[in-house]
Amino acid sequence: MVDLASQHARIQTELDAALLTAAHAGAYIQGPEVKAFAQELSDYLGGVHVIPCANGTDALQIALMALDLKPGDEVITATFTYVATAEVIALLGLIPVLVDVDPAFFALDLRQVEAAITPKTKAIVPVHLYGQGADMEGLMAIANQRGIAVVEDTAQAIGAHYRFSQGTAMRLGTIGTIGCTSFFPSKNLGCMGDGGALMTRDADLAERVRMIANHGQKVKYRHDVIGCNSRLDTLQAAVLSVKLRHLETYSNARQTAADRYDAGLDQLEGLVIPARNPASTHVFHQYTLQVKNGQRDALKAHLEAAGIPSMIYYPWPLHEQPAFASDRYPQGAFPVAEQLCHEVLSLPMHTELTEDIQDYIIHAIQRFFTS
Ligand SMILES: Cc1ncc(COP(=O)(O)O)c(C=O)c1O
Repeated sequence: MVDLASQHARIQTELDAALLTAAHAGAYIQGPEVKAFAQELSDYLGGVHVIPCANGTDALQIALMALDLKPGDEVITATFTYVATAEVIALLGLIPVLVDVDPAFFALDLRQVEAAITPKTKAIVPVHLYGQGADMEGLMAIANQRGIAVVEDTAQAIGAHYRFSQGTAMRLGTIGTIGCTSFFPSKNLGCMGDGGALMTRDADLAERVRMIANHGQKVKYRHDVIGCNSRLDTLQAAVLSVKLRHLETYSNARQTAADRYDAGLDQLEGLVIPARNPASTHVFHQYTLQVKNGQRDALKAHLEAAGIPSMIYYPWPLHEQPAFASDRYPQGAFPVAEQLCHEVLSLPMHTELTEDIQDYIIHAIQRFFTS
């Protein structure tokens, strides 16, 4: 599905130099590389405050902690996402209010978001699934009108642009109240372990986030609020500074590979290629097909027999997970997400896909549908 070793080999000299410098300097926690990377990512994202942390799940948790929500407050998010998005809501004693996704881009269905808002709704967490933007223009209008915070889950979409109808373009993760991302190795900007970051334009909120990620302290051993320990370590920051310099090239490589898959697969009856949201660029964290007519699992098996990996992101929506089950969400409550869980299939997608590999994959899929 990914080829991190080949990606590493291409930039090994740069990575070795950065890692060795950090290793020899010995400041393994909060070394200068962490600050430098935060500044570089801020510049890349258009000048927002960037606070690195230990992983993407922590970023989401810290964001919600910084908004000072109270147990019982409601947070709306999509039922079709990775578990981390909703897990942190529940962990903080908040109520995850799940809604369905739109059938084209698999992001929050805004009509359902509006219908789910109550006086207890304090935040909405859109997920930019697979690498392209949710409807941020519509969502920000709904949230701003009601004074509700927006926490963007940008774990899969770092680097993508969102264009508002009046023409302004912003990077995903910098539009809402706070943006969160993950640097898990297979992410579009990945390190050599765990890592994450929060982004915000609000200086006071940035200060609060920084404090919460550091045991609730601004001054050493003076704890103003309950925080946690969530740090990006120095070696990971050194890796990320190198990889950030290549992120645009990586996004372009993913887009080129996606176009090539599109060209080979879009005529096949029973297969739906990924729709592009005209308001957003797509950085293709995943290239995800919809396989119709109940043939998804057979196609997956056919690919496996040809030595081609594929993955199902995600096999169950959150409301069908035992951990999130509730009378509020009977089976059939969110038909789009439920159907997607039976149809989605992600193909290998990374920066090192060659035309030969892609042709092999495309021909195997064509054979499945035409023989
Ligand atoms: C949509 C989404 N949110 C949150 C996360 C959590 O990130 P991490 O694995 O760094 O904790 C991920 C990572 O898989 C993700 O895909």
